[in-house]
Amino acid sequence: MSKGLRLSERIGRLDYPIRKYNALARSLEEKGERVIYLNIGDPLKYDFQTPRELVEEAYKAMLENHNYYASSEGVKELQEAIAYKEKTWNRVEIEGRNVLVTSGVSEGINALFAALVDEGDRVLIPDPSYPLYINFADFYNADKVFYPMLEDEGWIPDVDGLRKLVDDRVKFIVINNPHNPTGAVYPRKVLKEILDIAAEWDIPVVSDEIYDALVFEGEFVSAASIASKDNVIIGLNGFSKTFLVTGWRLGYIYLKGPEEKVSQIRSAILGFLMTRLSAVTPLQVAVARFARRRPTFLEEVKRKMDERRRFTYKRLNEIPGFRMPVAPLGAFYAFPRVDVKMGDEEFARRLLVEEKVFVVYGSGFGPSGTNHVRLVYLPPIEVLEEAFNRIERFVRRSVGL
Ligand SMILES: Cc1ncc(COP(=O)(O)O)c(C=O)c1O
Repeated sequence: MSKGLRLSERIGRLDYPIRKYNALARSLEEKGERVIYLNIGDPLKYDFQTPRELVEEAYKAMLENHNYYASSEGVKELQEAIAYKEKTWNRVEIEGRNVLVTSGVSEGINALFAALVDEGDRVLIPDPSYPLYINFADFYNADKVFYPMLEDEGWIPDVDGLRKLVDDRVKFIVINNPHNPTGAVYPRKVLKEILDIAAEWDIPVVSDEIYDALVFEGEFVSAASIASKDNVIIGLNGFSKTFLVTGWRLGYIYLKGPEEKVSQIRSAILGFLMTRLSAVTPLQVAVARFARRRPTFLEEVKRKMDERRRFTYKRLNEIPGFRMPVAPLGAFYAFPRVDVKMGDEEFARRLLVEEKVFVVYGSGFGPSGTNHVRLVYLPPIEVLEEAFNRIERFVRRSVGL
C-alpha cells in the first residue's frame, strides 16, 4: 500500500468561503441549471466593461515592447501615477517611491503578513472581515483578534470595543473602508478615533480602500488623509474594482508616516515582493497612463450600481427572516441578517442546490457573520429580482423562522 502524501499543516488552515461552493455551482450548470451568481465581487461578470481606452493602452504598451520583467517595486511611471491618483481622488500625499505595486491587493495582503507577522503576533481585524485577512492570519499562525462593529449603526467599528483589545503585542490594526462584506463607509470621526488609538500605542494602521470611488451616500475619507504625523499608514488599494480590471491583477501598497519606520516596512515588503519578480509589466504601463486622466467612466458605473443597491436594500427587507437595518453605503455588497433555524452555511448551500442562487455564508467572514449572508448587487435589476424571488420562495418553503 502506498504511503499517503503528507501535505503541509499550514495549507489545511486556509479556507476561502467565497469560492468554496464553486464546484457545486458548476456541477449544477453542467446539468443544465441556470445559476445566479451573487457570490463574487466581480463587476465584469455582469454588464460592466473595462474602459476601451484602457484596453487600448494595454495593447499599445505590448506593441511598444513593455513586455519585460518590471522592477519588484513596480514600474516607476505607475508608482508616480498612483501618487497622483491618491492625491487627486483621496487627498493623500505620498511619494512615488513609497508605493509598491502588487499583483492585486490579494498579494499585497499576503506580502504584508509575510513581512510583518511572526507566529503568535496579534493582529486586529474587523468582525466581519474580508476573508483574506482571516486566511493570512491563520496561514502565518498569527493571533487574530476580531474587533466589533455595530450592525444597527450600519456596521461601523465599535471604537470602545476596539480600544479594549489593543495592547503592545498588536502588530497592526486593519480597517477596510468602504467595507467588504457590509458596504459600510466609515465616518471621519470614527476613523480619526482609531488613528488616535493607533498613534498612542505606536501601532501601524492597515487601510484597505479598494472601493474608494464606489461610495453612494455620504463621504469617503481616506485614513492617510487625516492621519497625524505619528501615524504609520499602510495603504492597500488597487484597480480591480474601480478601473474594472479584476483579471489584470494590479494593486498597490503605499506607506506614509515617520521616515525610519516607513523605510523599514518598505524594505521588508519589497523583500517579499522580490521573490515573485514583478507584477505584469504592460498592464502597469497601461494603467499608469490611464490613471492620469479624469475617471469620467465612473459616473455611469456608479449610477448603475446605486440603482441596484437601492433595489436590493428595499427588496431584501421584504423577505421574511431577512433584516438589514441600514442600507450599505459603498462597495457593492449587502450583508443581511437571516434569522433562520438552520446555520448560515447550510442556508447558503441549500439555497444554491434548491434554488440555484449562489450567495456566501456569513460566518465565513468572522463570528459576527453567523446568521448572515453576503451577496453582490452587481447584476441588472431583472436578474436581481429573479434571484430575490427565488430566495423568498426558498425561505417560505423550507426555512423554520
Ligand atoms: C476588501 C478587499 N480587499 C482586497 C480584495 C482583493 O482584490 P484584488 O486582489 O483584486 O486587488 C478584495 C476583493 O474582493 C476586497 O474586497
